[in-house]
Amino acid sequence: MLFILKNMSQYIILENSEFKLLIEYYDKNKKEHAMNITCRRAVITDAESISRIWEAVCAERVYTVINNPFTPEQERDYITSLSAREGIFVAEVENRIIAFQSLDTWVKFTDSFDHAGTIGTYLLPRWRRKGIGRKLAQHTIGFARDHGYEKLIIYVRASNTGAQNFYKSLGFVPKGILTKQVKIDGQYDDEVFMELFL
Ligand SMILES: CC(C)(COP(=O)(O)OP(=O)(O)OC[C@H]1O[C@@H](n2cnc3c(N)ncnc32)[C@H](O)[C@@H]1OP(=O)(O)O)[C@@H](O)C(=O)NCCC(=O)NCCS
Repeated sequence: MLFILKNMSQYIILENSEFKLLIEYYDKNKKEHAMNITCRRAVITDAESISRIWEAVCAERVYTVINNPFTPEQERDYITSLSAREGIFVAEVENRIIAFQSLDTWVKFTDSFDHAGTIGTYLLPRWRRKGIGRKLAQHTIGFARDHGYEKLIIYVRASNTGAQNFYKSLGFVPKGILTKQVKIDGQYDDEVFMELFL
């Protein structure tokens, strides 16, 4: 089989084996790119950058149940309110925060759920599908294990199949669907619950 690629204004014809090499090179590059990313726990001065990611993801309207972005002030309050077992973990490239993942206890009104945590993951659009979500998850899961969590739970909009696939790739298993659980811009969406035992 032959593959025709358009590079600038030129057309290049590749044989099957050459095309496979190109894909392998692309995949390797993608993973190497993710290796230049550093993950760390967010501090209060990160609130503005995290709020900017909320703004970008909320503006897309299709990924999260949060329809109004949290302001820098709300993020500052949130970071301050987190216990030693909770946190936001940020991914940075060249000292710029481009993604974050939150880890919270499932509920706060009783200690019966202290072994269960919930996470959320948000990347700026241009950094998606480069292995950064997975890298953040490795960081967060390590932290969760070290802090006594035995399982993580996530709830994802049913229409957000990309995020469900992401969580499945981490080992999360779908456990059920709540129907018409979200209503955004007048449109209902279901929510899928997923869990991962650590
Ligand atoms: C969903 C999201 C967190 C995933 O992070 P990411 O860095 O893009 O994902 P990764 O590159 O680490 O992907 C790891 C694996 O997850 C799966 N995956 C990730 N995104 C996917 C998508 N859109 N479609 C299908 N599979 C996907 C793939 O198996 C992928 O491995 P591969 O690239 O080698 O095939 C990110 O794309 C994002 O921020 N999306 C918008 C916000 C959002 O939906 N957040 C979740 C709300 S609960």
